[in-house]
Amino acid sequence: MNAVFVKVDNKQFGPFTHHELRGLARKGKFTPADLVWDEDDHDWVYAEQLDELKTIFSDDYAPEEHNSRIIAVGGGKGGVGKTVLTASIGVALASQQHQVVMVDADLGGANLHTVMGILEPEYTFFDFYTLNRDSLNEIALETPVENLRLISGACGTLGLANPKYTQKLRFIRQLRTVNAEFLLLDLGAGSSYNVIDFFLAADEGIVVTNPEPMALQESFNFIKICLMRKLKRAFHGDPFVNELLDREEVARPGRMQMTLHQVLEKVREHDERTGDFFEQVLESFKPQLILNMVTKNEDVKEGVAIQAAAAELLAIEVDYLGYITYDQSVRDAVRDLKPFILHDPKSKASQDLAKLVNVKLLGKSMFRSLWQKRKLQKKLQEEKKAYPEIQLLDKAPICSVRCFYWGDCDYQEGGKPCPVRYLEPIFKS
Ligand SMILES: Nc1ncnc2c1ncn2[C@@H]1O[C@H](COP(=O)(O)OP(=O)(O)OP(=O)(O)O)[C@@H](O)[C@H]1O
Ligand SMILES: [Mg+2]
Repeated sequence: MNAVFVKVDNKQFGPFTHHELRGLARKGKFTPADLVWDEDDHDWVYAEQLDELKTIFSDDYAPEEHNSRIIAVGGGKGGVGKTVLTASIGVALASQQHQVVMVDADLGGANLHTVMGILEPEYTFFDFYTLNRDSLNEIALETPVENLRLISGACGTLGLANPKYTQKLRFIRQLRTVNAEFLLLDLGAGSSYNVIDFFLAADEGIVVTNPEPMALQESFNFIKICLMRKLKRAFHGDPFVNELLDREEVARPGRMQMTLHQVLEKVREHDERTGDFFEQVLESFKPQLILNMVTKNEDVKEGVAIQAAAAELLAIEVDYLGYITYDQSVRDAVRDLKPFILHDPKSKASQDLAKLVNVKLLGKSMFRSLWQKRKLQKKLQEEKKAYPEIQLLDKAPICSVRCFYWGDCDYQEGGKPCPVRYLEPIFKS
């Protein structure tokens, strides 16, 4: 499915997805007589002339079935649980017979492989970027969990933390060719263009936050920066819209003096049709939200607060998927190099996640979900038994005076496994 550029009154907008154009067509704001860019002919043609757009105008339009659902997991703040949640969502989906590929798109600090107990990935992005391997399919590694593969990041490889734009585009295009029903992208912290572009390229984006004020603020900013980038891209040929979006009252981080509702109003006053397209971008950007590390009941409402702020200030709808309880077993799982849902499928965090995956991501009803949860529990217990225990200490070198660090070491337990260097495989990758 290609997104297309649209030309209205000699102004170029987009690219818009078919779904977005359908939204406009249904309101009578995009017609078969509007001009769209034809990639093959390199010319503007009427929308009705483009075969791939025909279904958009018919009544029996069915949203295009994607081969895969690409879900990005991001959020401004570091350490809020993006990676551990991605891994456990991956396991939960795979355990229900879905083909899943997790992608470690945290280019600066890839560590999803460690959470999955893979200490030295055979292939990483590095092989893809350096054209050692042609396709992402080739670098997807098997994990100990059936139906779950991993495309590992290339942590520690200089130069990859900032791929060139063309490398990024090649990667995004290739994502659609990976054989999987679900592709889960674990993004890095922050809101650099690398992170934002991956978030926007996905079909669905999940923002993870914890209930602390700093994290909430950063996740709201993250959502705002994504939206602004999407709007800037869609209207980059329109100086009026650009000037509005760049205004201090809108663009400045922190308190917004002019809301996106007001911006929309101004765009509409200036030009009715540009306003229609602007409104469509706002309507179709629906980030999802997971509140992680919840310790008390009142925390839960922080998710609703973000929803309200996004509706009021950004004029968009945030889909609050739910919360995951703070749980010591998540930390224990990380220490044991396991996804937490396998480490202890009965823990509170695992149960919260199973419910969220079944009801929100797979759209199962609560009743079916309960039954499904039991089935999932059983499957997870089986997977747990089959999951290899990694004895990192077995990999430790034996402490000796010949060790490089001996002189600086506080332990000096000659003859025993080194209590520190067993961590080397984790830090070295
Ligand atoms: N629900 C939870 N309960 C307890 N601890 C948690 C929970 N979720 C995450 N953690 C802990 O938080 C730490 C950070 O998690 P994680 O690495 O997934 O964060 P991240 O958002 O991916 O960080 P980064 O931005 O650095 O990539 C982990 O050590 C994990 O054990
Ligand atoms: Mg992470």
